[in-house]
Amino acid sequence: MTSTAVGDDGRERTGVGRRAMLRSGLAAGVGVGIGATVGPDAAHAGGEPSDATIHRRFNPGSWDSVRDQFRLSRKYLQFSAFVLASHPAGVRLAIEEHRRRLDVDPYAYGAFRNDMDRSTAIRARLGTYLGVAPGELALTDSTTMGLGTVYSGLVLRPGDEVLTLDRGFYGTDEALRVRALASGVKVRKIALFDQPERATAAGMVDRMLAEITPATRLLAVDWIQSSTGVMLPIRMMADALAELNARRDSADRVLLSVDGVQGVGVEDFSIADLGCDFFISGLHKWLFGPRGTGFVWASTENWDRVHPVVPSFSEAAILSWFFGRPWPGPPGDWNSPGGFHSFEHRWAVPAILDFHEAIGKARVAARTREQAAQLKAGLAELPGVTVKTPSDPTLSSALTCCSVDGYTSEQVVARLMEEFQIEATASEYTESFVRLGPSIVTTPDQVDRLVRALHRISRS
Ligand SMILES: Cc1ncc(COP(=O)(O)O)c(C=O)c1O
Repeated sequence: MTSTAVGDDGRERTGVGRRAMLRSGLAAGVGVGIGATVGPDAAHAGGEPSDATIHRRFNPGSWDSVRDQFRLSRKYLQFSAFVLASHPAGVRLAIEEHRRRLDVDPYAYGAFRNDMDRSTAIRARLGTYLGVAPGELALTDSTTMGLGTVYSGLVLRPGDEVLTLDRGFYGTDEALRVRALASGVKVRKIALFDQPERATAAGMVDRMLAEITPATRLLAVDWIQSSTGVMLPIRMMADALAELNARRDSADRVLLSVDGVQGVGVEDFSIADLGCDFFISGLHKWLFGPRGTGFVWASTENWDRVHPVVPSFSEAAILSWFFGRPWPGPPGDWNSPGGFHSFEHRWAVPAILDFHEAIGKARVAARTREQAAQLKAGLAELPGVTVKTPSDPTLSSALTCCSVDGYTSEQVVARLMEEFQIEATASEYTESFVRLGPSIVTTPDQVDRLVRALHRISRS
């Protein structure tokens, strides 16, 4: 069916109605479910069980079975969950199924309508997992893409000031540096503590308040710093800012934006409880979600302060463009950077939520935090080792940083790998520490081995 539409600009657009436009030639393929789909039970190369078999054997009540879902090398102890995820079997199967169908018919299976339907379903699942309204979630490919989306698109005026932290993540620094170029926006770095291991919640909030000026409009922080492992008291910071903002006009509020990637998949939390204005994260670290997936959450009111930087491929955005007048749609849709994506990964997001929900968010958090507490307590006993991450569980999560007297972090990390087959990293910040990440793919026994290894290194 053809029809004629006249946009607000008066130009005639012939031949395509709303539905027709969305469906013309873009007919949705017969969709597989958005969760994990199980393929044929072919033996895996090398005589190992296939992913389908591994997935079928999954017993979420057993931590051994949880670990068996991953194809992680058993040659090493994998203490690097804060970098990049390995996929459990359910995610591998979902990716493979989507990939196969995309390879057969990318035009129909990867079509616009298919992506919109799946993205809507993904946001619904993520919204439940994170405790926020699905329509307020924008889908991204990473935390870093989310940081760029918010810090480039946020409406700020010349002379406005943005505060960020002196030991914050590179991506935040860089997104803000670029934003400041030629925009008249000023970026200033502040310190919330001198020594991470001595940080206190009240001290951090006091320092934050002392740094805010009448020109401050945005505070951009990491929830859990990958440089130190300090977990910022976001709720207290948000409450203190709410008090301050109550005395300001709405346009002059100080917004709190949080890079939460080092907490997602560790902490049993809901974003609403944190009280921040923006929450930006990837799904491909501790959550073990598909590599190349992430999201940004903001309330509808705060999304109104952001201009999409990369054009959205949402129905609302395209119809607005097509008909030349605003088309209603959820802000998460409008602010999801568009273009076609590596859909097989994005569409496999529900499979990782199935996995976590089967285990239980609270059990994942408890298991991870128990090992982190064990690690910090063990390291604290070692002469020559300084734990840089606070031992207070309200000021730390799973990511744990330490230093060893007489060695650089790189030397310690190299020795851990060469002599003890333990994978850790050195933080890439001005002051570098050894970073360790106990998670659901490590065990309490492995934490003991890690502590013993660091004991040996510190004594030699
Ligand atoms: C605090 C923090 N944010 C973001 C990132 C990057 O995450 P993504 O790969 O999702 O962009 C990292 C580390 O890789 C990080 O430590």
